[in-house]
Amino acid sequence: MNMSTNLNKSSSTILGVGSYLPSRVVDNSELSKRVETSDEWITSRTGIKERRVAEKNEATSDLAVKASQKALDDAGISPEDIDLIVVATITPDMAFPSTACLLQHKLGIPKVASFDIEAACSGFLYALDIADGMLSSGRYKCALVVGAEKLSSIMDWEDRTTCVLFGDGAGAAVISSSGEGPQLIGFNSGADGSNPKLLHQPAGGSLEPASMESLENRGHFLKMNGREIFKSAVRVMGSAARELLAENGFSNKDIDHVIPHQANARIVESLSQRLEIPLDKFFCNLDKYGNTSAASIPVAFDEARKASIFKKGELGLFVAFGAGLTWSAVLARF
Ligand code: ACO
Repeated sequence: MNMSTNLNKSSSTILGVGSYLPSRVVDNSELSKRVETSDEWITSRTGIKERRVAEKNEATSDLAVKASQKALDDAGISPEDIDLIVVATITPDMAFPSTACLLQHKLGIPKVASFDIEAACSGFLYALDIADGMLSSGRYKCALVVGAEKLSSIMDWEDRTTCVLFGDGAGAAVISSSGEGPQLIGFNSGADGSNPKLLHQPAGGSLEPASMESLENRGHFLKMNGREIFKSAVRVMGSAARELLAENGFSNKDIDHVIPHQANARIVESLSQRLEIPLDKFFCNLDKYGNTSAASIPVAFDEARKASIFKKGELGLFVAFGAGLTWSAVLARF
């Protein structure tokens, strides 16, 4: 696979971060009453102990609003200061209008450019990459970047191979071309669309619109080839991170913290071995939330920051993979 993709340098500052997780906790023992599984199987294969599930009347934009309000507070700015909104999600409130537009209205942000991007679990880092590029142009000054998912809405609760893995949540960051805070240093985002069925939601789009047949075939739920995704995940995240480090004149020894996509503890362990970065430098909270796709990295980043894990001047690596396949690695100086 040719990994030479979209390496670039950045100078945006992260002014604030926030996250929101729905209050309802679904633990492994509750799931084992729904499908044939066990806490032992889920924990040993994934590291996940529990996940959050949003209420029926709680949409992705509602989760995004709560995370965004916290990010704005953390940044010490008001909604009027935002001049760009980018939301990463594969579970928008509806096909259109975008969740970003709904979020703009709900937060009372002025009529600024607002759009969604879809890069699955790499979505938040893709959105950071895009927003950073727009800030670098000088035409935008302060962006709200959000990763938000209600994955429970596309879960097949009868499929034990997927429903144990995912959860709902949202994370947000305010980034700016000026101000104090962690500096984004560089990005490496890429994709390989040669095998889309590794992880997909087959029905509901233009290829297979909703029909009685698509409902009967359970085509509106997420489908995944877990074993193949596992192998690809470790490979593409490893290559993306190594390329980014080399491009920016760093080695694996320079990394103080890794905030990986929170999919599976075994993937994180394999990545640690591949990158030769000790596991204790990887921040993980997937035991509590499972895989929240685009929300996973900003939620983990927010928790790690609140736990005062990062010291000023340390170097952080964010790295993710997702359906597409997509991948993205981002470097930040805290
Ligand atoms: N409980 C009990 N048994 C199960 C369960 C379950 N929840 N799920 C599967 N099994 C069974 C399978 O049916 C299989 O049984 P069989 O041998 O009789 O056929 C057996 O367990 C082993 O299944 P495998 O798929 O080989 O299990 P594996 O060790 O590969 O673990 C897993 C599966 C956890 C899904 C792993 O492959 C994985 O984590 N893959 C990556 C998934 C991922 O990260 N996806 C997110 C992508 S990011 C995004 O964009 C959303």
